[in-house]
Amino acid sequence: MNVGVLGAGQLGRMLALAGHGLGMRFSFFDPNPDSPVRDVGELTAADYSDSVALERFTEGLDVATYEFESIPVEAVEAVAKRVPVFPSVQALKVSQDRVLEKRCFQHMSIRTAPCRDVASRGDLDKAAHEIGLPAVLKTRRLGYDGKGQVVIRDENGLADAWEKLGGVPLILEQFIEFDRELSIIGARSRSGEIVFYPMVENEHREGILSRSVAPADVGETKVRAAREYVRRIMSSFDYVGVLALEMFESGEKLIANEIAPRVHNSGHWTIEGAETSQFENHVRAICGRELGGAGAVGHSVMLNVLGTVPDVARIEGIAGAHVHMYGKAPAPRRKLGHVTVTGHDAAEARDRAASVLRAMAPEGVPA
Ligand SMILES: Nc1ncnc2c1ncn2[C@@H]1O[C@H](COP(=O)(O)OP(=O)(O)O)[C@@H](O)[C@H]1O
Ligand SMILES: [Mg+2]
Repeated sequence: MNVGVLGAGQLGRMLALAGHGLGMRFSFFDPNPDSPVRDVGELTAADYSDSVALERFTEGLDVATYEFESIPVEAVEAVAKRVPVFPSVQALKVSQDRVLEKRCFQHMSIRTAPCRDVASRGDLDKAAHEIGLPAVLKTRRLGYDGKGQVVIRDENGLADAWEKLGGVPLILEQFIEFDRELSIIGARSRSGEIVFYPMVENEHREGILSRSVAPADVGETKVRAAREYVRRIMSSFDYVGVLALEMFESGEKLIANEIAPRVHNSGHWTIEGAETSQFENHVRAICGRELGGAGAVGHSVMLNVLGTVPDVARIEGIAGAHVHMYGKAPAPRRKLGHVTVTGHDAAEARDRAASVLRAMAPEGVPA
């Protein structure tokens, strides 16, 4: 099987690493020639608007997918004319626009934060009045890792938020005072079979995922509800591949935040911590194979490596620690790698993760 991937970041790299074990070959397309996939597949480095390069990229492919949601839909559609693309372009379109995404959730009776479209300063004032403050102003499109969003604490913050983000289509969402952030990842095969990974508890710092704990300690009712949300989303798009749903937990409520129509950072722990990794199940799904089991094997804590390269040798010396570096140049807040720490029980995984955190930043990191 020759698999094409639009986007060539660490997610593409880990898809290829999983697919190699199944005898698959990978080609990537990304405007950035210096990418984490250089040693795991062939890379076409060209702009997404370069139709000739896109056509060349599709030659010899059996199937294609994408690993990044901000890929221009036109590029995905151009590829889809030549080879089957999974997940569907429709799922991508919805995930690219926070307003469409929220409407889609509401249409499926999936609870979301109260929100309003914002196209002008007048809209912002009106929306803030209707929803109440605090609230989060976000760009409708192209936001990721907390980029393109501003928290508005009170009325004094409105002008500043408009100053920062005004000029592009926006959405104002009520700020949810959540107890925890949770995510759930499911995979759906071409024949419609779905498997679910256990729910994961996520911690973000400045909008970027910093830690995931799997399986999260979540009651059966919430697990059922989260699975039902994902099932509705997947069946409405005739979805094929891995999909992640990010949620806020507030008391008894599960509030959907966003979907990612792809493998997800909160599923990296599945490489060591699940029967079949999210990367393997994604490539199995898009290639028309049966899915592997998605149960957890023990307990895992995943820590993202952000901004600076740690002393890898020190981390590797800690029992249960598995280091994944992506070969990217360091830059502030950039995801350079991750470490999954496994343990037989939640306490062991947590204690080992604390040792890894100390080794990652010997001068001390926030707990
Ligand atoms: N409505 C909200 N209420 C409270 N916190 C929020 C809200 N929206 C986003 N956040 C915080 O910001 C993080 C990033 O926002 P998100 O909508 O997931 O955008 P992205 O991950 O695409 O940057 C969330 O994981 C959460 O920690
Ligand atoms: Mg998010």
